[in-house]
Amino acid sequence: MRNVIQSVVLLLTTLMSTGAVEVIYAQVGETATLKPPVGTNLQECYVSWRLDNKEGHELAGRNPFGKKTTTTSEAWNGRLSLSKDSLIIKDIRPEDFRTFVLEGTGDKCLLAAYVDIKLLKLTVSVNPLSPLLPGDELSLSCDAQTLQGKKSPKIHWLNPSGGKTEKLVTVRATIQDNGHWTCVVTNDSKENKAKVSVTVLGLYPAPLHPQYTSRSGPLTIPCSLLAHISWEQIKAKDIQEVHWHFVPEAGLSPQRLFSLSLEDPVTWKADQDRGLQPVPNPKKGNLSLTRNRGREDDKGDYVCTLAFKNGATLNSTVRVEVLQIISSPGTELISGQQLNLTCGTGHPLPSDLHVKWVPPKQSSLSSLTSDRHPAHLTIPEVGTGDGGKWRCELWQSNAQLTSAEITLKIEPKISVWMLVVICSVTAIVILLLILVFILYRRRKQKMTLLRRRLCQCKTYVTTISWTHEITQDTHSQSSALKLLATRCFVEK
Ligand SMILES: *[C@@H]1O[C@H](CO)[C@@H](O)[C@H](O)[C@H]1NC(C)=O
Ligand SMILES: *[C@@H]1O[C@H](CO)[C@@H](O)[C@H](O)[C@H]1NC(C)=O
Ligand SMILES: *[C@@H]1O[C@H](CO)[C@@H](O)[C@H](O)[C@H]1NC(C)=O
Repeated sequence: MRNVIQSVVLLLTTLMSTGAVEVIYAQVGETATLKPPVGTNLQECYVSWRLDNKEGHELAGRNPFGKKTTTTSEAWNGRLSLSKDSLIIKDIRPEDFRTFVLEGTGDKCLLAAYVDIKLLKLTVSVNPLSPLLPGDELSLSCDAQTLQGKKSPKIHWLNPSGGKTEKLVTVRATIQDNGHWTCVVTNDSKENKAKVSVTVLGLYPAPLHPQYTSRSGPLTIPCSLLAHISWEQIKAKDIQEVHWHFVPEAGLSPQRLFSLSLEDPVTWKADQDRGLQPVPNPKKGNLSLTRNRGREDDKGDYVCTLAFKNGATLNSTVRVEVLQIISSPGTELISGQQLNLTCGTGHPLPSDLHVKWVPPKQSSLSSLTSDRHPAHLTIPEVGTGDGGKWRCELWQSNAQLTSAEITLKIEPKISVWMLVVICSVTAIVILLLILVFILYRRRKQKMTLLRRRLCQCKTYVTTISWTHEITQDTHSQSSALKLLATRCFVEK
């Protein structure tokens, strides 16, 4: 972590007079760059950097032709270099906090004097150095060496979001404390800064908006460790449990969807998967759940929790909303009917979201002009052209969040009338057939009866004729016979 820290060199005075003293702060282990005072032109000079005073050991030098030399002394062991006349000291040791003298000599050299540059110690500490869980105590301190006979510099910290705090910081860590803290040392209104980094374990904050899905769109329920956190760091903090819960509605008890088996290989175990799939390789820190298509019952809150043995938890709650198109009075209509289409989730949409309708190409509404459409469409009289696939897209400024579809079937009105006519005609024909059949049956019955009666009559007449022949009673018998025959005939 300390490697990241770059000490920043600042020259506190730019006075060019003899014996001018400049101060720069650096931390042990860091690199310090000792620069010639601003505005110095050393081009024509012999430049030399010496230790302690003008007569001290020469650490590095350059002649007017550009040839550089650095000390071969054991103590500096290759830690020194010269770059554009600045002396660069790597891997600063505690004994390096001394005075460095820059001298420019030569006939054409304008800097006839020397400059003392004091390297002062800045001590920055972070406790603990290891990653923290939210709620853990974090202490930061910053101390700067004071030049003898001078006022001590003012010191404060800037937190990762730039807020100013005291010289000594002790806080219960929150995720906002994660990142670079900067110690600012102010001396003679010049600032020296030193950065340290603090790691607080956390999850990416849940999206501000719900995740929107639909039956024709995918579903992703995000939960990820912050990018700077490794699984090893989570394990080092004694992770106890990682799980997903689903709360379909506020007040209902949560259903456990998945839990992570923490033994290697780290894998998800489904309790009740609801068709969701965890992103593979949870050790990479992506604990999200996905499905290709949303379902109507996906609506609800999904809670991803990491519980540690010390009682700390990291959690993130993702709300899922399902976009749907509702058609009133239904999806099968007859042209001329009124149609209401509503695109939504069941609650009013946040004001920064808007919907866009994509009606079927041949629809009368295909030229919905503006970019933003009402969530509720009313078509006073649908035409057959309005049949087909309607899509409703949910947009947040320039990003489409999801889209829902519905297929409408619209029957032409004329065919209904035709249907009515065809039905009526069929009914009439059937009735006529029945009537004809009945009449035919009755006629047939009558004929049979008549035939039967006629037969009876014939027998009767023959009998009478025969009797008549035998009795010779001409007159009375003949008239009786006639009468009988007549009656017989009349009856039939
Ligand atoms: C986690 O995985 C999901 C699904 O693959 C992806 O959309 C998301 O961007 C990933 N998150 C991170 C932080 O990589
Ligand atoms: C989620 O985390 C917060 C803060 O860490 C904690 O107060 C809360 O109880 C946690 N919720 C759950 C369900 O674990
Ligand atoms: C359509 O909505 C309007 C009001 O917005 C309502 O008066 C009408 O009855 C609705 N029609 C149908 C078929 O639902």
